[in-house]
Amino acid sequence: MQIILPVSSPMRSPGFVFGVATSAFQIEGAAAARLPCIWDTFCAKPGKIRDRSDARVACDHMARWHEDLDLLAALGVDAYRLSISWPRVIEEGGALNDRGIGFYLQLLDRLNEKRIKPFVTLYHWDLPQYLEDAGGWPNRDTAFRFRDYVDRVTRALGDRVHSYATLNEPWCSAHLGYETGVHAPGLADQALGKRAAHHLLLAHGLGMQVLDRNSPRALNGIVLNFSPCYGASDSAADRAAAEAADVVLNQWYLQPILNGRYPDLIERLPKAERPDVHAGDMDIISHRLGFLGVNYYTRGVYRAHAAEPFVRLPPAGPLTSMGWEIYPQGLTDLLLALKNAYDLPPIYIAENGIAVSDTLEAGEVNDPHRIRFIQEHLEALDSAMRRGVNVAGYFYWSLMDNFEWAEGYSQRFGLVHVDFVSQRRIIKASGHAYRDLLGRRALVGAHDPVAAARPAPPGAA
Ligand code: FCB
Repeated sequence: MQIILPVSSPMRSPGFVFGVATSAFQIEGAAAARLPCIWDTFCAKPGKIRDRSDARVACDHMARWHEDLDLLAALGVDAYRLSISWPRVIEEGGALNDRGIGFYLQLLDRLNEKRIKPFVTLYHWDLPQYLEDAGGWPNRDTAFRFRDYVDRVTRALGDRVHSYATLNEPWCSAHLGYETGVHAPGLADQALGKRAAHHLLLAHGLGMQVLDRNSPRALNGIVLNFSPCYGASDSAADRAAAEAADVVLNQWYLQPILNGRYPDLIERLPKAERPDVHAGDMDIISHRLGFLGVNYYTRGVYRAHAAEPFVRLPPAGPLTSMGWEIYPQGLTDLLLALKNAYDLPPIYIAENGIAVSDTLEAGEVNDPHRIRFIQEHLEALDSAMRRGVNVAGYFYWSLMDNFEWAEGYSQRFGLVHVDFVSQRRIIKASGHAYRDLLGRRALVGAHDPVAAARPAPPGAA
């Protein structure tokens, strides 16, 4: 089975970047060689992680990174999105940890040697525990500690990084971490969630100021998660419910960043739940972006409710093993809606992927569902790009199976299968299909199954 790009797709242009993504906590392991973070603490609490696992070893990437870079090269990707572990590179007093930063220096050097563009996320959820003990993201000071961390790290990494994202999915950090408690640090308090969200946004803006100064040649921005919201019916009430969900989920972050103001809903929040916005904060938060990273997995369907602003219906239709609806059209709809509402910087799809209950048989993983998922989402992306949305790249989540947060190791998203006992890696059929797609993408007529079946000429990638 193959992944085939539509003929004359803008994704065939030489500048369009295809990559894969990971994050530090989910793959690195070697937990003893860094400071503890909120996810270590969370994993140690009973009942928080589905399979009672933790990420002390994860994919043992710290020991096996050479092999993992070979996998990236074998897939032929243009770019690799990784994150830096804050608790690995900064000591409690704020000094740089030489061993920790040394690891990333080597990794980035090797990526650049292999001509794989490093897309580095500075914060992918692993807040140092000592900062959580001092109040975590609901404490305004954490935003300034993030600024200092970004300053130290970017000076150390020099010009090795092609693109920096300040944060990954601040909605998850704030909402899931402080409002519902299903993610670390596991607190459940509306006011804390809104405060955390504001300080994450502030941290982003402060980080952008530092990046402008220290890494002006890199492409600097942020990665947000989006889930387009649909009404359960065409009734005015259900449409209003979907709009209300959209504000909380999607616009709460994007509007401050792109337009320098919160959605009007902020005025209607009970006083105790309103974030404490200081004079000048919104200017910092709306710092000009070099790119916007969009993570897209699924949509939400909402209906009106007498007592709540909206209620989400349980996902229906084809589901992934995470229970998420497979809905490629949502990616097209989302991108067109964003284009209509905002003056957008270039967009990268920074994550898109599917968890499947893969099976390893005779040394192979056949995962047609994943291949179909990528195919359909690339078609959805193509359709948005043809209607004028400026998308510069696509990253599949993930390079390899890894620690899927509260789901532990029960969900496999990778193009590469990982046996978590032996740590053996095996490229899945989807990984081969992705590699073939990248090798063939520039060829005219590659949409034609006959032409596509021909082996790619050497150097076609
Ligand atoms: C996203 C996260 C990423 C991964 C995928 C499945 O929300 O950014 O780390 O867990 O979901």
